[in-house]
Amino acid sequence: MQLAVVGSGYVGLVAAACFAEIGHDVICVDNDQRKLAALQRGETPIHELYLPELLQRHRGSRLQFSDSLRDAVEASSVIFIAVGTPPLQSGDADLSYVEGVARDIAKSMNGHKVVVEKSTVPVYTSEWIRRVMKLVSRTNSDFDVVSNPEFLREGTAVTDFLYPDRIVVGADNERSRKILVNLYTPLVDGSYYSDANRIPEPARITQYPRLILTSAKSAELIKHASNAFLAMKISFINAVSNLCESVQADVEEVKLGIGSDARIGGSFLNAGIGYGGSCFPKDVAAFRSVAQKAGCSFPLLDDVIKINGEQKHRFVRKVREALWTLKGKHLGVLGLAFKGGTDDVRESPAIQIIKTLLSQQCSITAFDPAATSRAQEELKGNISYARDAYEAARDADALLILTDWEDFTNIDLSRIKNALRYPMIIDGRNLFSCETMRKNGFDYVSMGRLSICAASVRESETHTDILTV
Ligand code: UDX
Ligand code: UDX
Repeated sequence: MQLAVVGSGYVGLVAAACFAEIGHDVICVDNDQRKLAALQRGETPIHELYLPELLQRHRGSRLQFSDSLRDAVEASSVIFIAVGTPPLQSGDADLSYVEGVARDIAKSMNGHKVVVEKSTVPVYTSEWIRRVMKLVSRTNSDFDVVSNPEFLREGTAVTDFLYPDRIVVGADNERSRKILVNLYTPLVDGSYYSDANRIPEPARITQYPRLILTSAKSAELIKHASNAFLAMKISFINAVSNLCESVQADVEEVKLGIGSDARIGGSFLNAGIGYGGSCFPKDVAAFRSVAQKAGCSFPLLDDVIKINGEQKHRFVRKVREALWTLKGKHLGVLGLAFKGGTDDVRESPAIQIIKTLLSQQCSITAFDPAATSRAQEELKGNISYARDAYEAARDADALLILTDWEDFTNIDLSRIKNALRYPMIIDGRNLFSCETMRKNGFDYVSMGRLSICAASVRESETHTDILTV
């Protein structure tokens, strides 16, 4: 099929490359000339596993880039809208880019088109798109609007697309539903999975994706409700983690115990400095606003947001308690991205914590495997950037871990210890076991677990003098 994807960001570009990968011809449209030029030159503008391979495979053949929405619409039967929907001050999603694109599509139609919402949008958006397009196109209203939400996580977005748990198609008539289902056939019937050149499947995959056919409104709600539920799981474990600290229990043990119940599941139960990124904070707020507007009170979401905000303050308090005073302290920081595996710093808890520490007159040397240049645009003040974890640790009063990069779990702890002025690690992501840190002689403060004080371990040589913060 010939498709157009409008918006070549984290979602649009991945979706476009993956649609090309499963056999479609795709025109990727964006109004950012710099991004388009970079894509046309053969660059990959975001850090995303397997995306460079897919772009290399399909660029110039099944995958084209253009700044002309009109040309793309005229050439395509299905048009995905994947422009951003950033939060407004009120918590609502800003739908002006979606509206603008819908109007432009309506002006360019030359036959039947299926317009697909890929951006995360509130319920009723498909109706609004329909209404706006009808107003603009007047005589030519041969189109359908479908909601086909994405569930892509940054860092694993390509495999999330190609090996999804489910594909949700929210269509209000048979014609558009059929077109969308056809589009995903290589995934639903498994033919892509027997392709020798396929992108390798993640270990956990055991079955073909489930195809879920719904109304457009249900699909819109599925997206918001999924993200809100996952955010709730994170805030839940963070609240439990805080309780663990108060009663001297271990959140990692509690997580194992509750996550092993198949009804609960172990994923999204990592305690830490809270969720960030371009989706959860925005989507929980937007979902709360949707519920309010619909006259349904949803106070649970207020608590999810409140607990999440509090985790960052809690972490800064831990740093202060561990170091006594903050003014003039030099800190090494591992991690700037909102999570491991991405260069994205939007709503990154790491960035927010660093800003607070800089405002308290700390100096910082930070290292991130991918997000440094994006972070540099956000952070001003007494901060420098290191080429690796050891340089970040050099002469620091403590090393803070703020992002769960897999690479950090493999660092050479004795080199880190030698580099630090004092052997202290404050870990906002629980990347290490307390036992490992104790053995390596660190003072180690983490989330929802007892803190290790190496000095007192050395004094008594016992395991019983592990202190609580
Ligand atoms: C996406 C979704 O669209 C958003 O709703 C979801 O919640 C998160 O993921 P994302 O891909 O992360 O957003 O956004 P971004 O990386 O900012 O990409 C949007 C792209 O659309 C940009 O490249 C921008 O230049 C382009 N754009 C924006 C247009 O081409 N036209 C516009 O009118 C507006
Ligand atoms: C999320 C959804 O998972 C995805 O389905 C949707 O399409 C877009 O939003 P993403 O924002 O890329 O994806 O990252 P995700 O892996 O969900 O993590 C979001 C935030 O939660 C990160 O800051 C991460 O560090 C944090 N997190 C995640 C935790 O704090 N604990 C966990 O157990 C899991």
